[in-house]
Amino acid sequence: MSNVMSKEEIKKEIERLKEEKNAVILAHNYQTLDVQDVADFKGDSLELAVAASRLKADIVVFCGVDFMAETAAVLNPDKKVLIPCTRAKCPMAAQLTPEMVREAKKSGYPFIAYVNTLASVKAEADICCTSANAAKVARAVAKDGVCFLGPDANLAKFACKNGIKVIPVPEHGYCYVHKAFQVEDVERARKEHPEAEVIVHPECDLEVQESADFVGSTSQMLRYALNSECESFVVGTEIGLIERMKREIKDKQFYPLRRSVCVEMKLNTLENVYLALKEEKHEVRLDGEIAERAKKAVKRMFEVLD
Ligand code: 13P
Ligand code: SF4
Repeated sequence: MSNVMSKEEIKKEIERLKEEKNAVILAHNYQTLDVQDVADFKGDSLELAVAASRLKADIVVFCGVDFMAETAAVLNPDKKVLIPCTRAKCPMAAQLTPEMVREAKKSGYPFIAYVNTLASVKAEADICCTSANAAKVARAVAKDGVCFLGPDANLAKFACKNGIKVIPVPEHGYCYVHKAFQVEDVERARKEHPEAEVIVHPECDLEVQESADFVGSTSQMLRYALNSECESFVVGTEIGLIERMKREIKDKQFYPLRRSVCVEMKLNTLENVYLALKEEKHEVRLDGEIAERAKKAVKRMFEVLD
């Protein structure tokens, strides 16, 4: 029984089950180090979507939140996509509905669905984007220099580059984990760690983005820290990424801009990952027609990036 198994035994058993069932585990950068340990692939939303589009396995256990697993299922209609916990849902994704997308599109301008949306929302959108490519996608699809993006209003502001107007829908959609960071946190961090660079996620408020040295997706932040000549960093995103940075970049220092935790991401545990794989639960099931339309929006994003 799993409750009498040690962490190491559970990890070993997960490896054995992966082999036996031809399964892989994909994990977002915000997952705990224990979950990251058993992952075959770790990354940001874009990297995970690309990895999901190239899978050879029969079973995928997706350790992240609902919209990420749905994207993997949309790209793999013939595979079993499992999630360890059915309550791991991104609260921001729930802020944009298919009706809101349809309503905005009546104006004739294209709609970019942040990948942090459910498949039913992606199905109504023209294209998807992630935090790694929002400005690029906006430039590629804007009509007369205008497009919509939702649900994260801060990402929409971040994507307003090269004269493109990116209108947020809803007007004030947000992620609670990133809303927690304030300009005062950056000011305090600069006093406490004057030698450090401040790097933040584009879901942070615009003032926080503007006061930072670098703004990027979780994996872009990881690469920035690896490649920068600087040896210490104050990091404005969910704590899981900072734990990954500390473990993988041992010769540099990482400090959280403020300790901010995505409760939903942390609902995946080593134990429920093991049970998901062992009992082949909980399978992501999507309406076939919605999945097909959502896939077009995701694939179009891949084409823009090629
Ligand atoms: P990334 O795509 O940058 O990993 O971000 C995902 C997310 O949920 C941010 O809160
Ligand atoms: Fe959603 Fe924010 Fe959690 Fe990312 S960190 S999954 S956007 S609530």
